[in-house]
Amino acid sequence: MTKIAPSILASDFSKLGEEIKDVEAAGADYIHVDVMDGHFVPNITIGPLIVESIRPKTELPLDVHLMIEHPDQYIEQFAKAGSDIITVHQEACPHLHRTIQLIKSFGVKAGVVLNPATPIESIAPILGDVDLVLLMTVNPGFGGQSFIDSVLPKIEKAAQLRRENKYNFEIEVDGGVNKETARLCTQAGADVLVAGSAIFNETNRKTAIDQIKDSI
Ligand code: DX5
Ligand code: ZN
Repeated sequence: MTKIAPSILASDFSKLGEEIKDVEAAGADYIHVDVMDGHFVPNITIGPLIVESIRPKTELPLDVHLMIEHPDQYIEQFAKAGSDIITVHQEACPHLHRTIQLIKSFGVKAGVVLNPATPIESIAPILGDVDLVLLMTVNPGFGGQSFIDSVLPKIEKAAQLRRENKYNFEIEVDGGVNKETARLCTQAGADVLVAGSAIFNETNRKTAIDQIKDSI
């Protein structure tokens, strides 16, 4: 069963708790939290304080996507704030294995993210150690961008490597996912679909989530 992870980046931050409860009631599986530092990506969003304040608002896993430089410096804070999954960018981690172990040391699931231009082969040695592989289908930094379909073969390759090696990680895709593109992702092998604008820009979030689920 494909999981849906609404990205709160597209929500109304003035009523974040209500927005999260709304998508939880509408059938979301994870809450996707986009953390941007203005260095790794050209935008600034939220930090551990917000993760801590939304933690009691939902029972869903908080899927925290760190688009930041030097993530090792902040992992403990994000873990203690209540993250269930922390994903770090391969492009931001010169010592990726160490970073993944650091995340796990706090009892949090660890994931690795690839930008659209980064090949899956770059993380082949770590695939047996991660709980989740997040493949960006836009260049990270902003919501509402168009889906980059040249990433689809990478999703297939990730699924193939998982099959061949009997790995257990989930494959998540993020960026430009909507009722037109969701099926391409699941057919290629994605298990978790992040969607920001396709869910939060609709007044009826249940209809929005159902339309994505029905399209796959
Ligand atoms: C992009 C973020 C995404 C973003 C997706 O940098 O990582 O999670 O919120 O937004 P949509 O679904 O609107 O492309
Ligand atoms: Zn994201």
